[in-house]
Amino acid sequence: MPYTVPQLTDFSAAALDDAVRELLAALEQESAAVGSENDWKAFRDRWIARKNGIFTQINDLWLKAAPAAKKRNVGQRVNELKPKVEQAVNGTYARLLSGALFKGRSVGRAKVQDTPPRPSDESESVQVTSPDVPSPVRGDSDPAEALPIVEEKPPEINQRIALPKAFMEWAERTGQPLTIDEAFSKAEAVDITLPGIRRPIGAEHPVIKTMNEMIGVFRNLGYSVEEGPEIETDFYNFEALNFPPNHPARDTQDTLFIAGQESKPLRDRLLLRTHTSPVQIRTMQKTKPPVRVVCPGKVHRNDALDATHSPIFHQIEGLAVDTNITFCDLKGTLDHAMKAMFGSSVKTRFYPSFFPFTEPSADVQISCIFCDGKGVRDGAPCRNCKASGWIELLGCGMVDPNVYGFVDYDPAKVSGFAFGMGVERIAILKYGVDDIQLFFQGDVRFLEQFL
Ligand code: DAH
Repeated sequence: MPYTVPQLTDFSAAALDDAVRELLAALEQESAAVGSENDWKAFRDRWIARKNGIFTQINDLWLKAAPAAKKRNVGQRVNELKPKVEQAVNGTYARLLSGALFKGRSVGRAKVQDTPPRPSDESESVQVTSPDVPSPVRGDSDPAEALPIVEEKPPEINQRIALPKAFMEWAERTGQPLTIDEAFSKAEAVDITLPGIRRPIGAEHPVIKTMNEMIGVFRNLGYSVEEGPEIETDFYNFEALNFPPNHPARDTQDTLFIAGQESKPLRDRLLLRTHTSPVQIRTMQKTKPPVRVVCPGKVHRNDALDATHSPIFHQIEGLAVDTNITFCDLKGTLDHAMKAMFGSSVKTRFYPSFFPFTEPSADVQISCIFCDGKGVRDGAPCRNCKASGWIELLGCGMVDPNVYGFVDYDPAKVSGFAFGMGVERIAILKYGVDDIQLFFQGDVRFLEQFL
C-alpha cells in the first residue's frame, strides 16, 4: 500500500510522533526504490510538488486542521520535516548519480540517511549508507564494491557524470585511490592549459563613435566638452536663444512639452530639448569669455519616424566666443572639421540661412562624397546629392548680439560663432547607412558591422 497522508484528529505529542515516524519510513522506503531518473522525478513530484505533493498535504491535513492551541506544536513538526523531505529528494538524486558511475551493480540496497546534513554542511558527499556496505566516500574500501548502480542511465545523468566517470576509470586502471568526491572535483577543476573563451566585448555604437570622432577633431583644436540637461526650460531652449514667445521660428522645431506646466510662467515650463543649442547659454552663463566648447547630446522632436527622421536623435553643438572672432574663423574651422571627418578632398560651401540665435546664419554643404561633387555617378544622376554635387550637413552663424544680452556678455567687446550638426546624418553619410531607424533598433547584425 503506498503511503497516504492521514487526516489527523489527535494532535497530542505522541500522535504526532507516530505520524512523523510513519511518514519518514515511507519516505525512506520510496527513496530506496528509486532506480532511474524517471523514478526519481516521480518521487520528487510525489513528495514536494507544490500542488498536492505530500508535503503540501501535510500542511493542509495536519497544520491547517490543527486546533488553534496545537498549531504551534504542529507547525514546529512540519517545519522540521521540510528539510528532511528535501534532503531525501536531493540525496536520492545524488545516489543515482554516484550509482551511475559504476556499471553492473544494483541500486537496491542503498538508502537515504535519516539525518541528512544541512545545506551548509561542508561535505557534499554522496549520502549513501547501508549496514553491510562501507561508504566509498570515506575511502575505506574499493569504491567499485560499495556503490549501487542505476541499470538504465538517462542521458542527462550520463552527460553530467561523463568526466568524473572517466576519472574513476582512470584511477581504477592505474590503481590510484580516488573517491567519488575527488573525481567530481577533478572534473570540475579548471584546466588552465586550455585556450580561454573569448567573450565579445562589444563595440561603440556607430552614433557614439561618430560623436566621439567629431569631438576628437574639436578637442585637437583646443575645444572642451560641455553637456546639458535633456529636459530643458522654455527659457534655455528658446527664449535666451532669441526665439521670442510666439515667434514663428519656434514652429521649425516641433516640440514635445511636458504636460501640466500651464500654471508656470512660460520661460520656466519644461520641454524635451529640441536641439543642443541651450548648452551654449548654460556655458556662457557659467564661464567668462573666451569660450570654445562642443556640446554633444540627445535631442527630441515631435517628428514622425521615417528613413531620415527619428523623434530622438543626437547633435553636436559648437561655440567659440572671444575678441575679434570673424566669419573667416567660422569658415576655416568648419572646413577643417569636414575634411577631418570625410577626407581632405572634401570641399565646403556656406549657403545663406536663418537661425534666430545667429546673424548672419548659414547652412554648410559639403561636396558630395558619393560622386565627388560631380552630381553624376556611374553615368547616372547621383541619388545622394540629388545630382547637385552638394550635401547639406549643418547650420552655423555668428552669435547674434541679442544672445549675449541673456548671458551678461558685452557684445561690444566679444564676438563669436556657433554651429550645430546632426550626428546620425553624419554617420549615415560616413557609413552608407540607408535608414536612420537602424541606429535605434538594436539589431546586433547591424551593430556588429562597426566592430
Ligand atoms: N540648433 C539648430 C537646429 O537644431 C542648429 C544650429 C544652427 C545650431 C546654427 C547652431 C547654429 O549653433 O549656429 O536646427
